[in-house]
Amino acid sequence: MDGQRSEGSGETIFTMEATPLKFGRGSSKEVGWEVKQLRMSRVMLVSDSGVIEAGITPRIQELIEAEGIEVELFERTRVEPTADSFQEAADFAKEGGFDGYVAVGGGSSIDTAKVSNLIGTHGGEIMDYINPPIGGGKALPSPVMPLVAIPTTAGTGSEATPAAVLDLPDLRVKTGISHRYLRPDRAIVDPNLTVSMPPEITSSTGLDVVCHAMEAYTNWPYDQRPPSESPEERPPYQGANPISDLWSRRALEYGGKYLRRAVENGQDMEARSAMALAASISGIGFGSAGVHIPHSCSYPIAGLKHEYQPPGSYPQENKFVPHGWSVIVTAPAAFRFTYESNPERHREVAELLSGQRIENADENTLPEIIIQLMKDVGTPRGLRDFGYDEDDIDDLVEGTVKQQRLLVGTPRETTEEDLANILRESMENW
Ligand SMILES: [Fe+2]
Repeated sequence: MDGQRSEGSGETIFTMEATPLKFGRGSSKEVGWEVKQLRMSRVMLVSDSGVIEAGITPRIQELIEAEGIEVELFERTRVEPTADSFQEAADFAKEGGFDGYVAVGGGSSIDTAKVSNLIGTHGGEIMDYINPPIGGGKALPSPVMPLVAIPTTAGTGSEATPAAVLDLPDLRVKTGISHRYLRPDRAIVDPNLTVSMPPEITSSTGLDVVCHAMEAYTNWPYDQRPPSESPEERPPYQGANPISDLWSRRALEYGGKYLRRAVENGQDMEARSAMALAASISGIGFGSAGVHIPHSCSYPIAGLKHEYQPPGSYPQENKFVPHGWSVIVTAPAAFRFTYESNPERHREVAELLSGQRIENADENTLPEIIIQLMKDVGTPRGLRDFGYDEDDIDDLVEGTVKQQRLLVGTPRETTEEDLANILRESMENW
């Protein structure tokens, strides 16, 4: 197909590894039983102050302790973790002698638990494991201790993915660690835990769900990529494949149908449940397929400047661009750019998100539907709202090309000039 990347002899194999999932209102009450099944006797419980204050974490702790299992609470998870905050948690893990981990919170808590588990089990330096070219890209030598993830936001899908993301303020970049052994052993997704999320966080996390699904579904297909030399070298993010497509399609349908309702009325349990499920569904899809341009750009957008004060109930002491908003902001321009790689897939995404049959789609159809959704859920208009202007484009491009692990999923050749154009178009989306 015109504009599509192709390889002479492509990969013939893909894998689908998913976290066993327990879903439903009230499901978090069964955490004690789940932890016992995994034979944990001494647990590091990872959470953050907001979730603890909401009373969620203390209840989880009691339920685990009721099974005769020791629990040590680590409560200093930082929203948007940094190398320092990961290090603090990792030191806690090294000293604690834990044989199991439970995370309660958003992606930040779950990612902090993944890294604590990694360093608690294998030791070493966090930087050794961070994705190249920023870190050493060292593979985990063997599996880590069991981890149960209990998300309280409906967004990152971290409960279902092999990745942990962190901010490196000194290097002015966000990056991550990804390895299949980091994927949690169980996810307990209880929509009741998401009810207290304010509209801004519902908006940002929900748009993250939608972006995961859009980027996974339009990803560079697995069978057009060069084959992996060995099973160890097959990356966790392998490209769009027939199984990841199923998950991505359903997540798009739910995101289009329920996100507006969840933002408008946090007590709408049908919408809350659908978005909580969509987050995990989407996580399973992109956990296999990967993401591409919007997520690659989101890391420098969040990492380069810390000038934006998120509205509403985001932690006030902390200036940052919420992850979902840092991703969605380049999505209209990114999908306008990738359209020619596979017009049919872009039309399908537009149909799933809008819930309507679309006969004549072009490169602007999907971007217009995304922009309408952004407006409806109160998203900032573009990069300028986050404190960026045209003078920052070069730095943003430089930060984006460092995300090779993600950019490899882009379904067409993408030059630095192309990225600069996408970022420039994203200054104001309307
Ligand atoms: Fe994301």
